[in-house]
Amino acid sequence: MTDQLRADVRDHYARAALTVLDGPGCCGGDASGADASGDAIFGPGLYPPGELGPLPAGAVAASLGCGNPTAVADLQPGQTVLDLGSGGGIDVLLAARRVAPGGMAYGLDMTDEMLTLARRNAAEAGVDNARFVKGEIEAIPLPGASVDVVISNCVINLSTEKSLVFAEIARVLRPGGRLGVSDVVADDDLSPADRAERGDFAGCIAGALSFGEYAAGLAEAGLAEIRVTPTHAVGDGLYGAIVAAVKPTAGPGASPREAAAAAGAGLRAARALPPAAGMVLGEAAAGGDRCCGSGSCGG
Ligand SMILES: C[S@@+](CC[C@H](N)C(=O)[O-])C[C@H]1O[C@@H](n2cnc3c(N)ncnc32)[C@H](O)[C@@H]1O
Repeated sequence: MTDQLRADVRDHYARAALTVLDGPGCCGGDASGADASGDAIFGPGLYPPGELGPLPAGAVAASLGCGNPTAVADLQPGQTVLDLGSGGGIDVLLAARRVAPGGMAYGLDMTDEMLTLARRNAAEAGVDNARFVKGEIEAIPLPGASVDVVISNCVINLSTEKSLVFAEIARVLRPGGRLGVSDVVADDDLSPADRAERGDFAGCIAGALSFGEYAAGLAEAGLAEIRVTPTHAVGDGLYGAIVAAVKPTAGPGASPREAAAAAGAGLRAARALPPAAGMVLGEAAAGGDRCCGSGSCGG
């Protein structure tokens, strides 16, 4: 089952990459990942337009995320940043600019077609401090303590082995290094069956962790200062959220008490958040062949 789910995810995103690689004009407008009222819930509409202006059209068209992690990652020149599930490379290219001069942005992805697209986009953008590496986020092919900041955009929900992902994040981060991730997160009272009813696994819904599960998983891996903060609704009880954490410089990570407090704060914030305007709850995320809400996956 796990292998089959992973193969489904790879096929799904290979199709998405090919749709962009196969030619211009196939990924515009209506593939923007907006809700019924036109508010962005997935994809390029979640970035300030000025930030995307200098990027190649293919990088913007391939954007399948649920937030803007580089905006909250506080990247500094000279740092090494790693994007888990880098797709067409949008966040790697944005990060590469922020860590220059002297820094390096790595993108990690398991899908060959996405890596081809990302490398093409980096070449078009003239960015020379970005590298795209093939691999799985459950076994990151980088040395321990080699990364200052780990980012990711709507990918960890797609993992079938999230505890391995959290352990790998903790391993590759330098002491004091930070995690800044956008992801889909579920209300704590949604059971796994409730989540599966609202959307499929490859479409970033069925595999979403709850606020409490996310915080507990990161704490278990030894990370601290964990915050899971909803930014916008993407479905009934499902949210785009920013997940932040720090690898402690010394001593154990967050205690279970800290993790529970972080989870509770996130849940309270989520419950206070109204559904995205005009969105029929459950519909936005549950549509057929979606790439994290985008229609750009091809046939
Ligand atoms: C929803 S897309 C997001 C892409 C990119 N982060 C963005 O914001 O546009 C998910 C990406 O994660 C990759 N992916 C999914 N599961 C993965 C895994 N276990 N290991 C590595 N890459 C994975 C897919 O190939 C795809 O490129």
